[in-house]
Amino acid sequence: MAAQPSRIVAIYPGSFDPITSGHLDLIERGSKLADRLIVAVLENRRKQSLFSVEERVEMLTEVVKPFPNVEVGWFHGLLVDYVKSRGANFILRGIRAISDYEYELQIAHMNRRLSPGVETVFLMAGEAYSFVSSQLVKEVVSLGGDVSGLVPPLVEERLKRLMAAPR
Ligand code: PNS
Repeated sequence: MAAQPSRIVAIYPGSFDPITSGHLDLIERGSKLADRLIVAVLENRRKQSLFSVEERVEMLTEVVKPFPNVEVGWFHGLLVDYVKSRGANFILRGIRAISDYEYELQIAHMNRRLSPGVETVFLMAGEAYSFVSSQLVKEVVSLGGDVSGLVPPLVEERLKRLMAAPR
């Protein structure tokens, strides 16, 4: 019997508070490299977030609909434990600029030390989004600025609604 080709399962972890067009670009490109791509939202109780994990998962689930091999999950605790629990082969991360590199290098080394079989694969962020971060998007929206094109329309709508009626 012919051997079953091994399937490539990748985890794309992040805070996604909220998802930006840069994240979505990475998801689209990453989905072509893996048989299955799992976008994993970190639930970090120590970090104040604008959107709850449920809201972030809900928005992500909506925007990844065009990609049939992409699914959305969430995790807390160590990323490498989640990677193992999902039977994934690698972690996907994006790098926008050299300023991201040091942080990414640290977490990739730490994850490899914690779980030597797990590799991190980096994609360069699309040049159109190299300056876009969830943090900046939130700041611009809170000050009344226009973020159209920098986040998916659904996210822009949610951000505007939130800012109109802050919690
Ligand atoms: O979008 P972010 O906030 O840059 O994503 C950071 C993330 C989620 C990839 C990172 O904080 C993470 O993996 N946290 C889980 C905790 C963990 O595994 N820590 C040890 C390795 S750094």
